[in-house]
Amino acid sequence: MQLLMCPPLFYGIEYEINPWMSRSRQSDTQLAQEQWKRLYRLLPDQFAIEIALVEPRQGLPDMVFTANAGLVWKNKFIASNFRHEVRRGETASFQNWFEVRGYEIFHLPEENFFEGEGDLLLCEDLFFAGYHIRSDVISHQKVAEIVEREILSLELTNEWFYHLDTCFCPLGNGLALFYPAAFDAYALKVLENNIETLIPVPEGEARRFACNAIVVEKNVVMNDGCPEIRERLKSLGFSVFETPLGEFIKAGGSAKCLVLKVPHEKPDQG
Ligand code: ARG
Repeated sequence: MQLLMCPPLFYGIEYEINPWMSRSRQSDTQLAQEQWKRLYRLLPDQFAIEIALVEPRQGLPDMVFTANAGLVWKNKFIASNFRHEVRRGETASFQNWFEVRGYEIFHLPEENFFEGEGDLLLCEDLFFAGYHIRSDVISHQKVAEIVEREILSLELTNEWFYHLDTCFCPLGNGLALFYPAAFDAYALKVLENNIETLIPVPEGEARRFACNAIVVEKNVVMNDGCPEIRERLKSLGFSVFETPLGEFIKAGGSAKCLVLKVPHEKPDQG
């Protein structure tokens, strides 16, 4: 597996587009760099993961959250249409990264907001997609046509859990973590009907971004301070790697938002 990351050179809390962000609660530049580097090293050290990097750009502090760049599916890159103007400048860099590597680039109509893998998660053969707070539900339909897969739309109702990857985490083999209070009643039904075992995350640990975890086979990488979920995962046979990411939670993100899945084979190599 290859993951795309962006060094936090220009990371900071420069605007407020979700309830976690407050300009008066700045991130510590050095600590953020250390926390990011720890994750950056842990992934290739522990697993067969290759990390690719995109160059950070000044004035785009949230570019570190590469999960929001778009969606990569086979040789296709579907670029995000960010809801907030302050993040729209990121698109050119990400598009360029995929373009020079031979991917076919897709854009949705400008008025259809879509925030990439942050709101779209593959669970076995099914895509689940969050909408309402960031992505628009209509974007799911357009993405479904491009990836030629069914997408189940889930309405997110809690501003603190504004992307699907903040409140839902597929673990494979019919298992997933979720934070029930982030979804509307119909979305909860859709989850229950399609996932064999849903593990509810308690509020305190959802707020420590337990759902925003990177899953590599039977390994889970997550922010520290989620002991209940850690033990539950261990009892299910997972190895849990906790790594502190508190500086990124100040912007409303954690482990999973800091990486974007990129298929290993470059498209031009077939
Ligand atoms: N500050 C960023 C935003 O509000 C954080 C994005 C976190 N990404 C994610 N996939 N949840 O857009």
